[in-house]
Amino acid sequence: MLDVQAIAHPPLSPHVIRREDYTPPDWQVPEIALDFALDAAATSVRATLNVVRSSAHDRPLVLDGAGQTPLSVKVDGVAVNDWWLKDGGLVIPLRGSAHVIETEVEIAPERNTQLMGLYASGGNLCTQCEAEGFRRITFFPDRPDVLSVYKVHMVADKARYPVLLANGDPIAQGDLPDGRHWADWHDPFPKPSYLFALVAGDLVANRATFTTMSGRDVALGIWVRAADLAKTEHALAALQTSMAWDERVYGREYDLDVFNIVAVDDFNFGAMENKGLNIFNSRYILADADTATDYDFDAIAAVVAHEYFHNWSGNRITCRDWFQLSLKEGFTVFRDQGFSADQGSAAVKRIEDVRGLRAAQFPEDAGPLAHPIRPDEYQEISNFYTATIYNKGAEVIRMIATILGPQRFRAGTDLYFERFDGTAATCEDFVASMEAASGVDLSQFRLWYSQAGTPRVTASVAHDAGSGRATLTLSQRTPPTPGQLDKQPMVLPLKLKLFGAETAQTLAAEQLVLLDQPSEQIVFEGISERPVLSINRGFSAPVVVETDRSAADLAFLSAHDDDPFARYEAMQQLMLDTLVESAANGTADHRAVIAAIAGTLDDAALDPAFVAEVVLLPSDAFIGDQMARVDPEAIFRAREALRRDVGRSLDTRWRAAYDAAQADSFEYSPAAKGLRRLKTVALGYIAASGAADAAGLAFGQFEAADNMTDRQGALATLVSGDSPERIAALDIFYNRYSDNALVLDKWFQAQALSARDDTLEIVAELSRHRDFTLANPNRARALIGAFSVNQRAFNAADGAGYRFVADQLIALDRLNPQTAAKMIPPLGRWRRFDAARAALMRGELERIVATPGLSKDMFEQASKSLA
Ligand code: ARG
Ligand code: ZN
Repeated sequence: MLDVQAIAHPPLSPHVIRREDYTPPDWQVPEIALDFALDAAATSVRATLNVVRSSAHDRPLVLDGAGQTPLSVKVDGVAVNDWWLKDGGLVIPLRGSAHVIETEVEIAPERNTQLMGLYASGGNLCTQCEAEGFRRITFFPDRPDVLSVYKVHMVADKARYPVLLANGDPIAQGDLPDGRHWADWHDPFPKPSYLFALVAGDLVANRATFTTMSGRDVALGIWVRAADLAKTEHALAALQTSMAWDERVYGREYDLDVFNIVAVDDFNFGAMENKGLNIFNSRYILADADTATDYDFDAIAAVVAHEYFHNWSGNRITCRDWFQLSLKEGFTVFRDQGFSADQGSAAVKRIEDVRGLRAAQFPEDAGPLAHPIRPDEYQEISNFYTATIYNKGAEVIRMIATILGPQRFRAGTDLYFERFDGTAATCEDFVASMEAASGVDLSQFRLWYSQAGTPRVTASVAHDAGSGRATLTLSQRTPPTPGQLDKQPMVLPLKLKLFGAETAQTLAAEQLVLLDQPSEQIVFEGISERPVLSINRGFSAPVVVETDRSAADLAFLSAHDDDPFARYEAMQQLMLDTLVESAANGTADHRAVIAAIAGTLDDAALDPAFVAEVVLLPSDAFIGDQMARVDPEAIFRAREALRRDVGRSLDTRWRAAYDAAQADSFEYSPAAKGLRRLKTVALGYIAASGAADAAGLAFGQFEAADNMTDRQGALATLVSGDSPERIAALDIFYNRYSDNALVLDKWFQAQALSARDDTLEIVAELSRHRDFTLANPNRARALIGAFSVNQRAFNAADGAGYRFVADQLIALDRLNPQTAAKMIPPLGRWRRFDAARAALMRGELERIVATPGLSKDMFEQASKSLA
């Protein structure tokens, strides 16, 4: 019998790209000239490609495309019609070894809701090409190992688009009699198509000059709408600081005479390192005290630095293929982390980075979308701009730096930049450079590139008082991940140290242990008192460490460890042990945590910024990650109960910390930031205690604030409560900032993250608010993305949270598949929950997969999440 269903829904057979299938390009394109007649409704793109056959083969020229039909195709100046279209691209048979190919297409930027290729944002035109957006602009071998010199000619209406920018240097410009004008740009550095960019718009620049270490002047410009000009000072200063830092720390000098950054409101992610013309999500450029938090200021500096650093780690040396993405992203994140650490407290920066890794990457590594930092296959490369590629990738580079030490690591990066400058390289090229420069064998270390999953280390110390001998037993195991059931032992650089439990003296100085066996014992002699183990100091390896340390030992380390990260970690572990027990049993003894927090608050020698990090309880999600089954309600109750107890028991201290943190006026300095952070953390505990004056205190902070950090901190405290001040603050905030999209995002996000019981109803209502739109990625993430990481609200037992998010993602997929697909992972956590929730989550994933016209981005994420 005929299976009607099977015919109505033919099984999707995804096209899988495999790393091992890499072959070099058949044709190179040493030069390309692009000619744009720009218009939001209809832009004409004429491309002239000099193509050269790369080897003795007889295959035609295959240019990637996105389903456009060429208006004309010429070979060596002559119109031809023996071409054909295949998979959205253009195939042209060619006889010789070198030809000039000309194509013309017409595209419609204003209808481009995917925000890939050439699109309109806020009345301006801009591009995003990484990873495969260039093919949406013109036919081209859109792969990173085809490097070309670009010449760009742009024509546009002068009144609407007075500014015309592209990569490289401006060459010439002029006016046309019909009210249009033109500009020519030339980028002398050969680059892959994903680094192409142009911008046409009504923009102004904050300008400055940077003089490089060899004495060349570079003209810097940060381009924004005229109304936003005053908010660009911080980004411009960060750019100058980054340029100097890369010279000092890595010996890297900028190479063009111009460096421009443009801020746009509609952007799929953070920012893009196009050669000489970075394009940024405006949230990573615009800042002033009234509208941006300290967190925003820090993120702006980090992203400006990140994109700037790509000029060497990404642009001068690019990736051979997209499987090598972490070559540029992991390394560049490592570089930007080092930059940020040097701008303020390195200890706090490390804590923030590890917290981020644990929030985003560890769950990814433990779930259905786990992949190595150098993946073996993908369906849609946009889905691989992940915490694993970026953040675990950065940890892998950090481990190499730890193993080699600073001098040899710098020798390794120098050699890498020298050897591979101007080429499209691989992760292997990077590791081989490190080996060659240092003499260190990294053979087994390479497993970090191929094995997914977070290694788990167990550590325990046995002490024999009689002989003064302590034996540390270490073992490692990496859990299976999709497609990788058996794992080999990794190289784990573990910094460790022993303290005396009675005297708090150092019994064994810090040492770096390279654990490369399934298990290993290390013997310490002359250990006269019971040792307390401090391990994975500085988070030297991105692993989970399980120890048998008691609450008393953890409390001891939280007070005495001289490694700030290890001190934070001991407190986290103490809190986690307490919270997990409480979530499982409905109750736990809170006294050890309370005493440890009290001790931290009383230690006047500590930096307030560090104190604020240490006294914070782990998130609901991180608590859930420690449990065999996530029980979102029990976790929420356990965490609230501990917060209330810590708030009540230490009320006097929180109020003292709160008062001590008051400042006369806003200042953006590490010290002032630390005080603001501690102030809002203290306010949170005062509110958690149930104190009658808490809402009043928060509202007072909200109204008196001369900066967004204090204002948002107070708002975040109020939105989880039930006070009249909550409504008042939300209204005041909305009215004050209703014309500022970035601040309105905070208003949506604060409500999506609320701990109230009715958060889903509020969020559903906000999704119908006149200021809500799925078309703007920042807004979609502020509401839908934030809600789906609100563990308790999203995982409501009746599945309403899942249904709401799935509905939104299905709608978003029709506009912007890339941004929609990024928000699938919370639904893919179903294995971690009870059977009822798991079935509801699977039901939504199945509904998504069955949606007619689903994008391949969503298909890959949702179908893999079901597997
Ligand atoms: N290379 C950009 C960065 O600096 C991000 C590009 C993201 N592309 C994407 N398709 N998600 O990290
Ligand atoms: Zn990057």
